Amino acid sequence: MTTALTLNGKPLTLKADPETPLLWVIRDEVGLTGTKFSCGAGLCGACTVHLDGKAVRSCITPLSAAAGKSITTIEGLSRHGEHPVQKAWVALDVAQCGYCQSGQIMSASALLTHNPRPTDADIDAAMSGNLCRCGTYNRIRAAIHEAAQNA
Ligand code: FES
Ligand code: FES
Repeated sequence: MTTALTLNGKPLTLKADPETPLLWVIRDEVGLTGTKFSCGAGLCGACTVHLDGKAVRSCITPLSAAAGKSITTIEGLSRHGEHPVQKAWVALDVAQCGYCQSGQIMSASALLTHNPRPTDADIDAAMSGNLCRCGTYNRIRAAIHEAAQNA
């Protein structure tokens, strides 16, 4: 069965089981590996992408849910890392090991799209599903505030 969608601004038609997790499609079929696999159960946020602008866990989102819709991965967030969230991440040296960070950035950028001036409580609520074993939470919060000021 074929599924048509838009990935990072480009139309894409895929031949795959519609129940295939979007994460596998993105990583294995398309070859974009910035979106990470960690828990595989919707619990950690490492696999976060945007589905029509909303942050979703691609490991538990079937390909069928993306039919006719627009998916953005970390590779498509900006051309050269110029998204305000990416710039703030670099400025505040947020990443440690980096494994969770593409998911963090995708959740943060979706948050700012819908709430351009989030409070600490808004940030904590929006980001609580994105786990970081390195404990970069304080820098993540500071970078989201910085990105909000510079957007
Ligand atoms: S890998 Fe998808 S939520 Fe953890
Ligand atoms: S930076 Fe290492 S898991 Fe988050």
